[in-house]
Amino acid sequence: MPATTDLEGLGLDEGGHLLVDRALAQLRAGDRLTVTGRHPALRVHLAAWCRARGHRLADDADDVPDGQPTIVKGAAGERRWRDARRAGAADAPEERADPRWGLAARGALVETGGPPIGAEWTEREHVWADIAPRLYAAAAANQWDPATAVNWTAPADVPDEIERAVVQLMTYLVENEQAALIIPARLLSQLHPHFREVMQLLATQAADEARHVEVFTRRGLLTGGPLGTSSAGGRASLQTLLAEPDFTTASFLLSVLGEGTFIDLLRFIHRHAPDPVTADVARLALRDEARHVAFGVAHTAHLVTTDTSYLGRLRQSVERRHAALQDTAGLNTEVFDSLVLLAAGSWQPTAISRGWQAVRDLQATMDEGRRRRLAYIGFPDDEAAELSALHTRNFM
Ligand SMILES: [Fe+2]
Ligand SMILES: [Fe+2]
Repeated sequence: MPATTDLEGLGLDEGGHLLVDRALAQLRAGDRLTVTGRHPALRVHLAAWCRARGHRLADDADDVPDGQPTIVKGAAGERRWRDARRAGAADAPEERADPRWGLAARGALVETGGPPIGAEWTEREHVWADIAPRLYAAAAANQWDPATAVNWTAPADVPDEIERAVVQLMTYLVENEQAALIIPARLLSQLHPHFREVMQLLATQAADEARHVEVFTRRGLLTGGPLGTSSAGGRASLQTLLAEPDFTTASFLLSVLGEGTFIDLLRFIHRHAPDPVTADVARLALRDEARHVAFGVAHTAHLVTTDTSYLGRLRQSVERRHAALQDTAGLNTEVFDSLVLLAAGSWQPTAISRGWQAVRDLQATMDEGRRRRLAYIGFPDDEAAELSALHTRNFM
């Protein structure tokens, strides 16, 4: 006695195939399923559907009940999933992501034969940090709206020359933020999506930088523009970051050393801001940058604990960058002078002297911060001091 499913008036092309599939799922290859129903095209549709799915519609030679179409189940459906493997477990990444998993969700049952993903980074240790899922959650919860997070119409009475210094700093910040946006976006495009939390975190990082580009541009143009200058040396320094081919050395140079240094710079601009908008944009960017630095430090430290020889590669990346930039000016002199003037607040020689000292103190604070982060990653103190001193004069 073959199994039966009744479609009543439902056509196979109106969802009836769901009922047929459901009934067939209970059967083994070679078993029969009789389909009853009133739809006038039922037999014609079933014949075509069976051919497409690897089943057979019984004919006169088969001993089947009169008048009712009967399906003989094929083996293709069973074969389809026989060689399928899960793309790891949904809750945590595997040590190695198989390129053949392609774009499948982590933990999904993956049918064989799909296109492999052309990702460059497939090893967990080369991209991972245990803090990544928590940092992503914090990033998603702390996205702010540039239109409302800053009081753009706050009254400000900034003297012309101080305003020009602010505009110069904003111009410089924008080009640095653009580099900081492109790098995580590039890393993201070469990352196996199996490392989902890192992918999500890099996406929020790029979104953070997009907002930084926006608010610094908007502050720069707030009093009518034009923007300040962009130096060849500053851009050369950023260009070396874009060219860094390895995930970890790129993350190290950008986030540990560059954005780490920027945290002190943004704090300085916030402290000496001559108007509320400048203070706001520096404070908001600073909050995001802390997450970017946290991931860079955590990932680099994580990789070094699994492979201490990696310290050598990190060191080489700093030395290589230093050598590449040796003949460039590094920091835009207009940027340095603007920092002095910002901290001075006026052209009085005693004020300029105070501003000058404040910038020297800033550079010392930046150096201390870099040394502390390098030591945390695993560098001995003397080597940390040496590498910090080789960091680009452009700060990022
Ligand atoms: Fe930023
Ligand atoms: Fe950043």
